[in-house]
Amino acid sequence: MMHPNALMLAVVLLRNLMLPFCSAQNAGFVKSPLSETKLTGDTFELYCEVVGNPTPEIQWWYSEVNRAESFKQLWDGARKRRVSINTAYGTNGVSVLGITRLTLEDSGTYECRASNDPRRNDLRQNPAITWIRAQATISVLQKPKINASDQIILPLDATIKPVTLHCNLTAAHTQHKDSFWMKNGNEIPNTRADQGTSFTSFKISKPRADDSGEYMCVYTFEKAPNANATIEVKAKPHITGHKRSENKNEGENAMMYCKSVGYPHPTWTWRKVDGNSYKDIDNSTGRFFITSRTNYTEINILDLDITTDPGIYECNASNAIGNTAETTILRVRSHLAPLWPFLGVLAEIIILVVIIVVYEKRKRPDDIIDDDEPVGPAKTNSTNNHKDKNIRQRNTK
Ligand SMILES: *[C@@H]1O[C@H](CO)[C@@H](O)[C@H](O)[C@H]1NC(C)=O
Ligand SMILES: *[C@@H]1O[C@H](CO)[C@@H](O)[C@H](O)[C@H]1NC(C)=O
Ligand SMILES: *[C@@H]1O[C@H](CO)[C@@H](O)[C@H](O)[C@H]1NC(C)=O
Ligand SMILES: *[C@@H]1O[C@H](CO)[C@@H](O)[C@H](O)[C@H]1NC(C)=O
Ligand SMILES: *[C@@H]1O[C@H](CO)[C@@H](O)[C@H](O)[C@H]1NC(C)=O
Ligand SMILES: *[C@@H]1O[C@H](CO)[C@@H](O)[C@H](O)[C@H]1NC(C)=O
Repeated sequence: MMHPNALMLAVVLLRNLMLPFCSAQNAGFVKSPLSETKLTGDTFELYCEVVGNPTPEIQWWYSEVNRAESFKQLWDGARKRRVSINTAYGTNGVSVLGITRLTLEDSGTYECRASNDPRRNDLRQNPAITWIRAQATISVLQKPKINASDQIILPLDATIKPVTLHCNLTAAHTQHKDSFWMKNGNEIPNTRADQGTSFTSFKISKPRADDSGEYMCVYTFEKAPNANATIEVKAKPHITGHKRSENKNEGENAMMYCKSVGYPHPTWTWRKVDGNSYKDIDNSTGRFFITSRTNYTEINILDLDITTDPGIYECNASNAIGNTAETTILRVRSHLAPLWPFLGVLAEIIILVVIIVVYEKRKRPDDIIDDDEPVGPAKTNSTNNHKDKNIRQRNTK
């Protein structure tokens, strides 16, 4: 008789042995690396994704151009740490091979190998049988040389004179196709120049702050990546929009903002103008919130305080070239403010009533006096006397 525990152990062992055979699935590529042409100094990345059960192991191999069968395995940190390999094993295996600061010698065939064959690392086995393979060819070309003009600082304060940016393609692996200009990552329309001309220029006739930015001349090639050079055009920030004043009631929230153009993008600060000097924003109450983006800043003040918050606020945009500031007047009205128009009307009514009453009081005796009283003394009499007479006269009627 077998001990029940031993029986259970045997069953578990048997199941574990059988499992790979029951649901095993050979390794297969979901995503295989793609061939690319690159320029010296640039970076490339190759992706490889495999399925299989158990999850396949992934390796990267390399062979030089025209030596297709002399593959060597690549390791993370190889080639003076220019090679990186990042692999994650989940239900699928995913691996990314990256090589930075490319040289001409990095050209060649890169191979992603995957296997979940239990015999895959057995040296007596032929790897061609136990591993599946996917290849990509990387061609590295000498980066073309461009002689570009230096960075420019726009002279906005003095006399405005045109500025011209230029590029000259002085060396290239092949004849280029055409060229164009970009500003801040967008192509500038109507700047395409074709083949023959390796010299290209871009003129800014009337430079303004918003003409500053990152300019780029781009040369295109038939079967190779674009070549480009960047020219920075800098200007001091120019504030294009802000609130002149903000009027709020105490307890409400206030929002003031400033917008700018000018490259490099400014850093923003807010201050309070105190006569001829400045005060930093006092945030001890925690009611001040400043949010700034590259060319926009906003200050929010919550739960306005009528004694401390009103005043002149200044936004200050500052970059390497200079700085600009604009002010906003914040007025805070008391809670009662909305009642003022009503109180005004009320006051008017009261005054009117008083005037009418007084007028009436002065007028009536005169009308009646004609009857029997002499005019002279009545006019000089005190009002009290008038009243008495008035009442008497009425009674006699
Ligand atoms: C680039 O061009 C300028 C004139 O546009 C010239 O003075 C300079 O020598 C050139 N530099 C190179 C490296 O060719
Ligand atoms: C552009 O570069 C070429 C080759 O270096 C040179 O011969 C040519 O004079 C340059 N053109 C200009 C306008 O600087
Ligand atoms: C400019 O050149 C760099 C480096 O070669 C490249 O990575 C980038 O894609 C190029 N940009 C354009 C717009 O051609
Ligand atoms: C003011 O204080 C609040 C609360 O502590 C904080 O969240 C906010 O960032 C501060 N604002 C400024 C401008 O420092
Ligand atoms: C501010 O910069 C963003 C991108 O950085 C741009 O889309 C936007 O038009 C700019 N706004 C102004 C007023 O220059
Ligand atoms: C803006 O801020 C900068 C740096 O904090 C300062 O040097 C400059 O005086 C300020 N500019 C104005 C106009 O207040």
